[in-house]
Amino acid sequence: MKKTDVVAQLLKNQFPEPVVNQAQYFAPTNIALCKYWGKRNTELNLPVNSSLSISLADKGATIKLAVNDKQVDEIFLNTKKIAEDSQFYRRLIDFIDLFRPKKNWNLDIEIEMNIPVAAGLASSACGFAAVSLALQKLLDLHLSEKQLSILARLGSGSAARSIWKGFVEWHAGIDADGMDSFAEPLNSDWPELKMGLIVISDKEKLISSRVAMQRTVDTSILYGCWPKKVMRDLVIIRQAINNQNFNLLAGAAESNALSMHATMMSSWPPICYSLPETIAAMQRVWKARDEGLSLFFTQDAGPNLKLLFLEASIPQVKEVFPEVEICSLG
Ligand code: PMV
Repeated sequence: MKKTDVVAQLLKNQFPEPVVNQAQYFAPTNIALCKYWGKRNTELNLPVNSSLSISLADKGATIKLAVNDKQVDEIFLNTKKIAEDSQFYRRLIDFIDLFRPKKNWNLDIEIEMNIPVAAGLASSACGFAAVSLALQKLLDLHLSEKQLSILARLGSGSAARSIWKGFVEWHAGIDADGMDSFAEPLNSDWPELKMGLIVISDKEKLISSRVAMQRTVDTSILYGCWPKKVMRDLVIIRQAINNQNFNLLAGAAESNALSMHATMMSSWPPICYSLPETIAAMQRVWKARDEGLSLFFTQDAGPNLKLLFLEASIPQVKEVFPEVEICSLG
C-alpha cells in the first residue's frame, strides 16, 4: 500500500479545492515519555509499538502556506530559503504532492521553528502536523483530528502525536493500511509537571531517526526485548498520569529512554546519539537524585536532554542546571 492510497481512502468523496490563498497553523512539538522506536511499515510510518508523549505548549512550528504564481514551490525555514536539491525540500514537497489539486498549483511555504531543527527535539513532528492542519484549511478538507493524525504520520511518525496539546497516546494498530494507527489525547491536566531543555548541541544530527530505527530493527539483538519493555512502561505511565504520581511517571520515562538508547547502541554499525556532555548531564541528574531531588530526564534521537520535575523543585533544578530552559507543557 502506498501513501497515495491512504490519502485517497481518507479523502474518499472529498476533492481538494483551494478555497483560500493562504493558511497558517502552529503545531506544538511533542516529547515522548514512552518512545516510538522501530517501524513495521516504512512507507506508511507504521510503528512496531504504541507510544505516549507530552506536548510543549509554545515550542513548535508555525507554517504558512500561500499559493504563488512562480511555477515552483519555495520553502523558507526561519526566513532562509531551502535548496531544491536538499533532502528537507524533497521530503516536504513529496508530502504536499499527495494533495496537489492541479499541476501548476504551487506554494510558498514559510516555516518558523522556535526549536533547533533535526537535533532530536521533534522538529519534524511539529512540522508535519502543522503542514497537515494548514493544508486542511487551504484545501477545505473535512478531516477529523483522528484522520489528521493518520495524515501527519505519513510525513513523520511522531507527527501523529503533535495534532494535540497535553498528553497524547499513539496506538500502534495492527491493520496493514494503518487506519488504526493514530493518536488521541488523554485529556489529563497536570499543571505542576515541568520539562526543562538542556541543549547540548543544536547541530543537525549525523544519522536520521529514520535510518537509525531501521538499523536497530535489522541488527540489534536487544530489539526483541523492546516491545515488551514498552508494554510495561505504557501501563505504568498511564497509571502515573491518572494518579499524578510524579516519581512513577518520570522514573518510567527515564528508564524507557535509556532502554531505547541501549537498544540502538547494540546495533551494527553502532548508533550513539549521546555526546560526552550528555553523559555528564545524566550524571548530574543521578547525583542530584541521590541527594534527594526528584529530577529525571528523557532523551530522543539527539544529544540533548529534557529534564522532568515538578514546579516546586524549580529553584533546586536551576541550581544543578543553571542553563536549563523551562518549557510550559500542556
Ligand atoms: O518521527 P521520527 O521519525 O522523528 O522519530 C521519533 C523518534 C523519537 O523521537 C526518538 C521517539 C518518539 O517517540 O518521539
